Amino acid sequence: MTTFVPKAAVPQPQGKGIISFSHTNVPRHIAIIMDGNGRWANAHGLPRSAGHQAGETALMDTIAGAIEAGVTHLSVYAFSTENWKRSPSEVRFLMGYSREVLRRRRDELNKWGVRIRWSGRTPRLWRSVIKELQEAEALTRHNREFTLVMCVNYGGRAELADAMERIGERIEAGELKAKAITEQTIARHLYIPDLPEVDLLIRTSGEQRISNFLLWQCAYSELMYVPEPWPEFDRHTLWRCIENYGARDRRFGGAVDTVATATSDT
Ligand code: FPP
Repeated sequence: MTTFVPKAAVPQPQGKGIISFSHTNVPRHIAIIMDGNGRWANAHGLPRSAGHQAGETALMDTIAGAIEAGVTHLSVYAFSTENWKRSPSEVRFLMGYSREVLRRRRDELNKWGVRIRWSGRTPRLWRSVIKELQEAEALTRHNREFTLVMCVNYGGRAELADAMERIGERIEAGELKAKAITEQTIARHLYIPDLPEVDLLIRTSGEQRISNFLLWQCAYSELMYVPEPWPEFDRHTLWRCIENYGARDRRFGGAVDTVATATSDT
């Protein structure tokens, strides 16, 4: 049982005071597919954009909760390479809103000790959004304890295709031999090569899909699907997920007894 004393820099939800939760181990890297904004808005008789706006509060509370729990990396799927298929007005809204959220929240996140990093493709992404992402990265680059990866214009297959392109270029330039390519070579050519593998992937709103998110990094992640739409997600739901994760037996392809032996030997 661990009691999490709120960190001075991270705000507490009003009226809830110090909160405890028990767990055996905390995932280092959590990835979240923030789904259900549109359905939440629809259920409340609001436009879809209001669902995305409500998602901002959920995101900030989740980041605060992740910091308190001792998670070191949080990746969030803010805009996928497939989201360009949405209506032009929703795409416009999401682009403008991402830019606005980054600008409005970057100082606060910096005070919390959050390092912001962008993962995604440049083509098609609004230049003003790229600029905002780069400014947030530059402002927060010295923060070491917690990393927030904003996946914007991100697709897992696109990331792998881009990595293959760069590896191909290095082969053409004579810097690399095809036979020398290993899993580490591919990992080193991803958008954020030093990003640890995802330990826990959470998707909100009850859908049970990976939807092209962090395909390489999620090879052995634990999956958790929660019924709440993203605007209703908060640090308490996150902590429930962390507790559930702590009770799981991760074997990474090894048999139960093999892993038990390996653990007792080391
Ligand atoms: C998925 O819900 C959500 C998105 C595609 C956008 C995520 C954006 C936010 C959470 C806003 C916070 C802002 C930033 C910059 C992170 P959906 O629209 O697919 O919902 P539905 O499945 O109910 O239609």
